[in-house]
Amino acid sequence: MSDPQRFAVFGHPIAHSLSPLLHALFAKQRGIALQYVAIDAPPERFIEIARTFFDEGGCGANVTLPDKQLAFELADAHTRAAQRAGVANVLTRQAGGSIEAHNTDGAGLIRDLRERHGVDLRNRRVLLLGAGGAAQAVAFALLDENVRELIVANRTSERARKLADALNVSQRVCISEWNSLGRCGAFDLILNATSVGVLGASMPLSRSLVSENTIAYDLAYGKAAQPFLEWARSAGAARTLDGLGMLIETAADSFEHWHGVRPETEGTLRQLQT
Ligand SMILES: NC(=O)c1ccc[n+]([C@@H]2O[C@H](COP(=O)([O-])OP(=O)(O)OC[C@H]3O[C@@H](n4cnc5c(N)ncnc54)[C@H](OP(=O)(O)O)[C@@H]3O)[C@@H](O)[C@H]2O)c1
Repeated sequence: MSDPQRFAVFGHPIAHSLSPLLHALFAKQRGIALQYVAIDAPPERFIEIARTFFDEGGCGANVTLPDKQLAFELADAHTRAAQRAGVANVLTRQAGGSIEAHNTDGAGLIRDLRERHGVDLRNRRVLLLGAGGAAQAVAFALLDENVRELIVANRTSERARKLADALNVSQRVCISEWNSLGRCGAFDLILNATSVGVLGASMPLSRSLVSENTIAYDLAYGKAAQPFLEWARSAGAARTLDGLGMLIETAADSFEHWHGVRPETEGTLRQLQT
């Protein structure tokens, strides 16, 4: 019997990653034999570590902070989703040994919002906080869903401007200076795509961004999502959601990309929540 195919997740730090558990659960569910490990890859060693993994027969890898940009640069080919995001969270060895970069963040968020939480994004007024890798992937996906207006705000305004330029549909996208956000009025959906919660930093936000209809969604999950979601609840938001469902959907997307079958995710989410 041949050895099971090898997969990995790269990041730094990586011990906290749920990816090995998720892929093991998906593989069991679908009856696929595979090996999936977490590999610590500090950015200065990422290229060497990733190349060795693929040279030694690795089939695919998820990539998390802070290596997503490097993963994009390492790849020989890029899917449209990776191209648009400018960063990659999935690498796949192709026939002949070349590496393809893909990005599942945008699709994962939309699937979680639309299919799990029943949020219809059409015609919504959306505030996107952050302009890093995740924000970039998510912004394109939101426009695909026909939101009415997308306001991007980032601590470093130059980065928000760059993202708005990349989106290239100026009539629906505008940027707000970080300090002027309080003048933007209330939003139907506020997405926190900053790493503030993960870093344990603070992000003062005006309560005027929230109405009784607002949905607040933090791409982070668990403890890291709590400060933003608590702020939204205290400001009167209708619903507050964290990014655990998105994480599971992005993992399922990469599983499907590699194995050609999509795992069921609802039971997996319930398992992680208990
Ligand atoms: N659930 C999921 O599946 C999923 C997937 C991807 C990402 N995420 C989460 O999304 C978040 C962002 O990830 P990323 O990959 O986009 O990270 P990233 O590329 O490093 O971007 C970080 C963003 O956070 C902003 N930021 C950092 N510290 C800040 C502070 N003190 N005040 C205000 N803004 C600050 C940065 O602003 P500057 O430009 O000014 O530095 C930038 O916009 C993380 O929490 C990550 O865990 C979740």
